[in-house]
Amino acid sequence: MKILVINGPNLNMLDYRDKKIYGTKTIDMINKELMNQFPNVDFEFFFLFYEGEIIDKIQMYVKNKNENIIINPGGYTHTSVAILDALLMCRNVVEVHLSDVTNREEFRKYMITTHAAKKVFTNIREQGYFKAVEYLIDNKYII
Ligand code: DQA
Repeated sequence: MKILVINGPNLNMLDYRDKKIYGTKTIDMINKELMNQFPNVDFEFFFLFYEGEIIDKIQMYVKNKNENIIINPGGYTHTSVAILDALLMCRNVVEVHLSDVTNREEFRKYMITTHAAKKVFTNIREQGYFKAVEYLIDNKYII
């Protein structure tokens, strides 16, 4: 039961970002809660800020046949065809957004990486990460 959890640029700075939009929990707090809530899952957590680093990590995962990925690509959601192409090689991708991305600025409505996701959770803050794990477990994507 392995899940790779990738958080993209600026998600390490939630302390400094608008709490009305992103909530009050940091990703480190969320990751700890995930480990507590799902002790049988072997999580690998990464903050990756550069597009190429994210692609490298996804490719490594694909080559090792570990294809359960939960990703919040941050701003790359709206710009990165390259991350989308990497994610399209994975069988089980769930995308998470803390905020209500579709009801913010116009440019955030345009979501590229989302096309690789079996499921997307938005607008439920940190709960999105918990729902994403439950989704992978409930649909027996985790082997
Ligand atoms: C985000 C939404 C993105 O538009 C933004 O660039 C982020 C965070 C979210 O979790 O709501 O950095 O992915």
